[in-house]
Amino acid sequence: MVHRTLDGVDVKGKRVLVRADLNVPVRDGRITDLTRIERLSPTIRELAEGGAKVIVFSHFDRPKGKRVPHMSLAPMAVALAEVLGKPVRFAEDSTGAVAHAAVDAMAPGDVLMLENTRYHPGEEENDPALAKEFAALAEIFVHDAFSAAHRAHASTEGVGRLLPAHAGRLMQAELEALDSALGNPVHPVAAIVGGSKVSTKLELLGNLVSKVDVLVIGGAMANTFLAAKGVAIGKSLQEAEMHVTARAILARAEETGCEIVLPLDAVVATEFKANPTTHTVSVAEIPDGSMMLDVGPETVADLKRRLVEWKTLVWNGPLGAFETPPFDAATVALAHAVAEATETGTLRSVAGGGDTVSALRHAGVMERLTYVSSAGGAFLEWLEGKTLPGVAVLMTA
Ligand code: 3PG
Repeated sequence: MVHRTLDGVDVKGKRVLVRADLNVPVRDGRITDLTRIERLSPTIRELAEGGAKVIVFSHFDRPKGKRVPHMSLAPMAVALAEVLGKPVRFAEDSTGAVAHAAVDAMAPGDVLMLENTRYHPGEEENDPALAKEFAALAEIFVHDAFSAAHRAHASTEGVGRLLPAHAGRLMQAELEALDSALGNPVHPVAAIVGGSKVSTKLELLGNLVSKVDVLVIGGAMANTFLAAKGVAIGKSLQEAEMHVTARAILARAEETGCEIVLPLDAVVATEFKANPTTHTVSVAEIPDGSMMLDVGPETVADLKRRLVEWKTLVWNGPLGAFETPPFDAATVALAHAVAEATETGTLRSVAGGGDTVSALRHAGVMERLTYVSSAGGAFLEWLEGKTLPGVAVLMTA
């Protein structure tokens, strides 16, 4: 099965409804990161240049079926117009007379943005009546929101069943990058999984041990694994109730031949705050009153040595508490090593997930990996091996 792209689709004079993910970071009413809008723009530009009437719609935040003024998409229309360098009109509803009047006023090549789809209670319920209303606005549906593809909502899966549905260029790029990393990768394949909780990444770890050759576990999640193996981890953050699960994952990895790599050393402190007094110790020697807050230099050196062998890398989650200095050191050092291996052409590197993107941006390597997904939850569900409903509607039978 492959997904339908925009290749060969004649959009001239047609009304094309584009599902974007404009759920962008906003602080004090200002958009703080344009990445999602910039990545969406090639699809919009291609459709507009092809003579389509381009109707963009999206959710923003979680207004729970009500009109919440500070969750309006109006600022996103202004930002999209700036990125495109052409006007983007805005309609204050995504259905009904307001939306239809705005669409009727469009000429080929025009771009219109509709108000937040989640102002309608039927959106998150995937209400067929709402999906029908969205479908009535257009002749073609283009899904360009991989990062919302794990949601079966009226504006994603629902409308995708009612109109000819195609992947936009961003969706296509995400799907191709992800397929090259886990669907059909060049071996050896490694995955680095960090972050704090085993419990939130359980399915993901379970899926990865049967797909990858090497699984590196970092972050506070590694503490749980070390403790489950009987290592004394002082007062490090861990999920004691996950020890049995962690041991089951280690046993499963043995069966599948997946090598699990845990930290060799750690940077520890007695309290978690910026720039405390730290010590670097072997994981076998963590003092009782200390906590592991980053992996140490020996671990980074070990990972760098291993990196040379890997052909494909999937990365989700930082190695340490990277938002609090100096516990970003290992993640930043590894990010640079991954970027260098990618640039020399020996490694295909794909990363994603909210914290991971922030960590890679912090390390300044966003443009240097093969692909950094703009998706958070959708990237995790994909790593879990799930079929995302918003992708399923784009598949050819
Ligand atoms: C995201 O930002 O990950 C997506 O837009 C999904 O948002 P949601 O978790 O509110 O559905």
